[in-house]
Amino acid sequence: MASIKRSNNAPFSNTILSMNNLKTSAICISLIAGLIGCNTKQSEKKVESKKEETVVTFDDKHTYAEPSIAKITHLEWDADVDFDSKTISATATYDVEVSENATEIIFDTKDSLQVKSVMVDGQATNFKMGTPDKFLGTPLIVEISPTAKKVAIEYSTSPNASAVQWLSPQQTANKTAPFLFTQSQAILARSWFPIQDGPGIRFTYNAKVKVPAGMLALMSAENPTAKSDDGSYSFSMKQPVPAYLMALTIGDVEYKKLGDHTGIYAESSLMEKAAYEFAEMEDMLVAAEKLYGKYQWEVYDMIILPPSFPFGGMENPRLTFATPTIIAGDRSLTALVAHELAHSWSGNLVTNATWDDFWLNEGFTVYFERRIMESLYGKDYAEMLAQLGYQDLLGTVDGYIEDNQARDTHLKLDLDGRDPDDGMSDIAYEKGYFFLRLLENTVGREKFDGFLKDYFQSNAFKVMTTEVFVNHLKNNILDSATYETINADAWIYGPGLPENLPVPNSNKFELVNAQIAAFENGTAAKKLETPDWTSHEWLHFVRNLPADLSFTKMKELDNAFGFTKSGNSEVIAAWFQHTIRNNYVPANARMKEFLINVGRRKFLTPTYAAMKESGKLAMAKEIYNEARPNYHSVSQQTMDELLGYKK
Ligand code: BES
Ligand code: ZN
Repeated sequence: MASIKRSNNAPFSNTILSMNNLKTSAICISLIAGLIGCNTKQSEKKVESKKEETVVTFDDKHTYAEPSIAKITHLEWDADVDFDSKTISATATYDVEVSENATEIIFDTKDSLQVKSVMVDGQATNFKMGTPDKFLGTPLIVEISPTAKKVAIEYSTSPNASAVQWLSPQQTANKTAPFLFTQSQAILARSWFPIQDGPGIRFTYNAKVKVPAGMLALMSAENPTAKSDDGSYSFSMKQPVPAYLMALTIGDVEYKKLGDHTGIYAESSLMEKAAYEFAEMEDMLVAAEKLYGKYQWEVYDMIILPPSFPFGGMENPRLTFATPTIIAGDRSLTALVAHELAHSWSGNLVTNATWDDFWLNEGFTVYFERRIMESLYGKDYAEMLAQLGYQDLLGTVDGYIEDNQARDTHLKLDLDGRDPDDGMSDIAYEKGYFFLRLLENTVGREKFDGFLKDYFQSNAFKVMTTEVFVNHLKNNILDSATYETINADAWIYGPGLPENLPVPNSNKFELVNAQIAAFENGTAAKKLETPDWTSHEWLHFVRNLPADLSFTKMKELDNAFGFTKSGNSEVIAAWFQHTIRNNYVPANARMKEFLINVGRRKFLTPTYAAMKESGKLAMAKEIYNEARPNYHSVSQQTMDELLGYKK
């Protein structure tokens, strides 16, 4: 049993009894039976045969909610979206489950969310806003009795709600209509609706949303595929999801079906390119199901958002949100689709209990992503992705160790008192991936696949802590001697990279290395052998060029390979590292244009950091001043800190 003590003076623990708790397992069994079509008997048998009496106890320090006292189970969201005032006015009505001695139910709010009234079962009730915290926001405390069934909160958001980005027509592809999207992970959902905002708290939802006529509204739910006449839309999400997976986007977008269960939403001017780029989505879904069991969310669609979207992708259930920077023209950056799709199992079905367990979401997803890519494009292809990930990981670990932040290199994090966004690093993604790869190597692929399939099935719609996962490992595939031999505790609870990390080995990159060596030894760039290189090979090439390159050498490379003009966002971002550090001025205009248009933090951070580190802070600040209004709050926050920007 995992139990973590809460350090502040409002102790609670979220206890979910899986397997031996009648209520929880009964719900789970019927869900599994209903959704994946196995009969109840089989599921019951499965539970018994595992003989795991797992008690999942966890303590989420990033929500004020105390779900063991009073928790939400369902939301009816009725909202009006006003682009002029950049506010959402809404009523959120929750079904609640309240324990015997409860006197209050607590919700999270953030960024001046204005609560106008609260009703419990139709009666106005007392409520108060608690003390605000920089990261957590402000608790909304509502008086309640143990018999309460429904809590209705009427509220409006503020224009600076940090999850929401309001875009002008100029910031979109078509340039004709405004746009809105939300980004709730990790703890920003509370800025656009009052909510028990912990990944361990799930609820179903229905929504009615009113938007300006001529625009399409979409959520992480059952979605429309065409605009309504009056801008009214209804949504329903029948599977319970945590708050960080609630999402809304509104724009002048169209829908195109790609396969039986897949489709794409995009602005009209992007649709053709997008449909070509992501034509393999259905194949990915089929490959994923073959690996780890049936897709549980019926449809898998993706929307291409404007370039200010701060991430590559976000796994909002049924509708992945994606950056347009993965449209490279040659389908070379679609691993991101495999990644977000994989979250439909790792993350959306089996969810990290707290943000300290984030690696359970992301490490598993990177592993699953690479398995999908391997089944579509083969081992060599997947190994290039792993090798690039390995390079990222080494850089990240070195950075943390140099900064005396070794604790942030543990898989199991400790984010108490911090912004959970701090946990979003290559550690969760890549150290997590390599740990799972080590497990695969240790027990063999077949056994490991069986284990994962069962893990997703028996924990579907539940939370997972690192400790319970360790128990699963020990009860199913690793005897304690093997657990010790592979140093599993050091991987999970220790710093840096254990020696038995399975280093990837890419034949294709060996060939690239040979060309880099030839270039270093004087072969002219245009004489290098680069036949049929994919963008991964180009990325490896650019990343591993010598750090110091003269203007002449830079120019020679650029003339031969057109890096400054590259339409591949990964390659050009890697190229900017060299152009900045080697004062290659001909790339500056392109870099500025890129930084003003693209708000994807993964590209912004290294680019601004390179300017800062190479004595070009003034240039960085000048560009940032112009670009900042285009960025979503999560990118703004990171760049503000990096560049010492004062609001
Ligand atoms: N869920 C993440 C994005 C995220 C993580 C948002 C933490 C906020 C807090 C998403 O699945 C993700 O990992 N995106 C990556 C994709 C990449 C690893 C293929 C990204 O955006 O770069
Ligand atoms: Zn992810």
